[in-house]
Amino acid sequence: MSASPGAAVPDAATPAATPADARPILDARGVTKRFGGLVAVREIDFDIPRGAIVSLIGPNGAGKTTFFNIIAGLLEPTDGAIDFMDELIVGRPVRAWAEPFFWFILPGIAVLVAAGLFAIDQGIAGVIAAVAAIGLLIASLLIAVIRPRWYISTLGRAGIFKSGRPNDIVAQGIGRTFQNIRLFANMTAMENVQVGMHSHMHATLIDAALRLKRHRTEEILSQIEAQKWLDYVGLPKRSDVVARNLPYGDQRRLEIARALATRPKLLLLDEPTAGMNPVETTQMTTLIGRIRKELGITILLIEHDMRVVMGVSDRVTVLDHGEKIAEGTPEAVRADPKVIEAYLGAPAQ
Ligand SMILES: Nc1ncnc2c1ncn2[C@@H]1O[C@H](COP(=O)(O)OP(=O)(O)OP(=O)(O)O)[C@@H](O)[C@H]1O
Ligand SMILES: [Mg+2]
Repeated sequence: MSASPGAAVPDAATPAATPADARPILDARGVTKRFGGLVAVREIDFDIPRGAIVSLIGPNGAGKTTFFNIIAGLLEPTDGAIDFMDELIVGRPVRAWAEPFFWFILPGIAVLVAAGLFAIDQGIAGVIAAVAAIGLLIASLLIAVIRPRWYISTLGRAGIFKSGRPNDIVAQGIGRTFQNIRLFANMTAMENVQVGMHSHMHATLIDAALRLKRHRTEEILSQIEAQKWLDYVGLPKRSDVVARNLPYGDQRRLEIARALATRPKLLLLDEPTAGMNPVETTQMTTLIGRIRKELGITILLIEHDMRVVMGVSDRVTVLDHGEKIAEGTPEAVRADPKVIEAYLGAPAQ
């Protein structure tokens, strides 16, 4: 990862590079979300080109955050599917009924071995095999709850699919911030960023409890990396400040630092300039442009501030009442009568 905190501020509207790979980084097809009788998102087809900044705009209640939450694994869609980097991450379950067989394969073998040994001689070997069967069953069920990456890919190879959970989707490379800031209020800025690194750390609970060298080394490296992200978003001297004591604009930056620490390939930003003054908004717009240009991260942005949207986006998609009503360059969308009517108000006389 090549953060260059001191680098010159680039032109936010300049694409990072011509994407060598023309396939979209994210491809959503027919995504629908119903809340009872309300259709919050209706049959949305949507893709994000690699290396682009794409904005999602629309009036209040248009379904933007709901769509974000579906991508991030926080909400199950009622219908539709989403691929990320050519891999299905969200969609209807496929052969989910077959998953429990995986949990019982190894314990089942141990039970058979134990039964066989008991049949031959009711000695200690049979008891050990029986205890092993119980241990394997507990381990198996724990793995099913924790769902590590290798477990999910093994299921995938067997043709079994379930939508990713939020932590799976972070591990696959989608980071996010929230419309209503969700920091760990009583933790310091640095600790908040370190939480973002969790999915890339290797030390176990036992390493931490025994303060083994692996844990200590990883802790120091994570502090160095966290400081790098704090510097990058413009919070170089705030690492020891408890999150709830940071000014509002800094809390928004800290959320971005935490999201960057997850090492995303796609960053979802839900109204990053909400509540900011004009100076902070300009700084945030510049930061978004730098994240794409310097770090090569693709960005999906929900934003109400039209100066931010028009200044930074390669493409804008407009939602209204859960439906996609327009899509195109900022200029084309701004001139679209449907958008003017739905979002920007009636045209000026
Ligand atoms: N968990 C939920 N249960 C029921 N209805 C919901 C839920 N979440 C969202 N909605 C409804 O879905 C619709 C879309 O909401 P959403 O938050 O996605 O809109 P939005 O475009 O992000 O709006 P805003 O610009 O105000 O943030 C709204 O009518 C909202 O009330
Ligand atoms: Mg919203």
